[in-house]
Amino acid sequence: MDNKKYQSIINPYQVYSDISDIRHMDTYIINGPCTINGEVKASGSKNAALPILAGCILTDEECILENVPDLKDIRTMIQLLIMLGKKVKRKGSEVHVTGTISNIEAPYELVRKMRASISVLGPLLAKEKEARVSFPGGCALGPRPVDLHIKGLEALGGVIEVHHGYIYAKTPKLIGASIHLAGPFGSSVLATDNVLMAAVLAEGETVIEAAAMEPEVVDVCNFLIAMGAEIEGVGTGVLKIHGVEKLHGCRYRVIPDRIESGTLLIAAACTAGEIRITNTNSMHLNKVLEVLRLSGAQIEEEDDSIFLKGTRNILPIEIETLPYPEFPTDMQAPLMALLSKANGISVITEKIYPDRFIHVAEFARMGAEIKMEGASAVIKGVPKLEGAPIMASDLRAGAALVIAALSAEGTSTVRRVYHIDRGYEKLEDKLNSLGASIKRGYEKMK
Ligand code: UD1
Repeated sequence: MDNKKYQSIINPYQVYSDISDIRHMDTYIINGPCTINGEVKASGSKNAALPILAGCILTDEECILENVPDLKDIRTMIQLLIMLGKKVKRKGSEVHVTGTISNIEAPYELVRKMRASISVLGPLLAKEKEARVSFPGGCALGPRPVDLHIKGLEALGGVIEVHHGYIYAKTPKLIGASIHLAGPFGSSVLATDNVLMAAVLAEGETVIEAAAMEPEVVDVCNFLIAMGAEIEGVGTGVLKIHGVEKLHGCRYRVIPDRIESGTLLIAAACTAGEIRITNTNSMHLNKVLEVLRLSGAQIEEEDDSIFLKGTRNILPIEIETLPYPEFPTDMQAPLMALLSKANGISVITEKIYPDRFIHVAEFARMGAEIKMEGASAVIKGVPKLEGAPIMASDLRAGAALVIAALSAEGTSTVRRVYHIDRGYEKLEDKLNSLGASIKRGYEKMK
């Protein structure tokens, strides 16, 4: 191995640490209750754009990505690509990525900020034949292993070792293989992306069984196809990849963010408002729309927009989170905000991340009545929530607390807004334009 390649070209602490993160943390001060009314445009999908940006490693030619949201996780991925040697420029929602890789290390300082950094592993191994990526570890959602990523890349001929908190991967040549990628909780989105992005440059045919079918994985497939990859079975649980020698640059438009759209729809449903979300794709939200209809909301699906009219008589629901096309785990906490005001008892069972319930204690601070039974939350609807000091524990939990605060009586202060900034583009601006009263403040760190 070329040890030079392992040296980060720039000290990440010097250049990339955000001093404002250390001295203070942003808060939201939300005055409720309000009614979310009006029209808003969906942003591009964070979870599609992240692996697609990583996929730009697969060619030295220029990739031009349209509809890339400007949010913290995307900036982290761009920083990572720059550290790896790529040149990256942003013009509005368009991101241009070009150039060769000069460094194959994704350091702890960036991976700890964002687990999706793991998606550079497959592309680096395929293009540079080696990679060194910090081991991501757990997070507020519970343990988040990467065994499926490693298993898939090993099946393709990657030699992978974990030492001192880093995944070291190298290979003389990747060779196509048959890989079953199901884990104890079903398919894995980023493991599918990682193995897929390695397989496109492997010699021969790869079959990924139990591939994730999320729209974001489909978007990664379509991006790779635009670069010259040969992939069959896109959108199904079995992907067949015929490896090619080289990929080329392309122009590609990222899909709309279905989780952002779902969050905004629930904000309107929870405040009995009327919302139209434009530039979105209702097909990606089928199950979410079905559930919102069951809760009493009226919904119309138009060409590239969705209209929702909420009701004060929110109906209770029983639902499980499962891989796509079922109800997404990322909508679990926002849905809980809605059901906490339903007329009866609802049950949400988490089948992807059984520990993803830290927000329950925060909802209780606002007067919600929620009891945990294993991986199920039993929610007894209350007529009203009350504003309170509350704390975001992760990205989607943060958005859920914002929704609850919009519909609650009085003022709420949401702490640790940096979680929300990781994954929502201009959330407070969008909600304020729809009738919310959200001010950004900050608390000093002691
Ligand atoms: C992605 C999404 C995240 C979403 C999640 C599930 C991105 C950037 N993030 O995360 O917002 O909540 O999908 O829809 O796209 N697992 C293993 N072994 C592995 C990998 C995963 O057991 O090697 C398990 C996980 O612990 C979890 C389940 O598989 O229980 C699904 O996780 P996975 O789809 O991998 O989540 P991510 O791709 O990390």
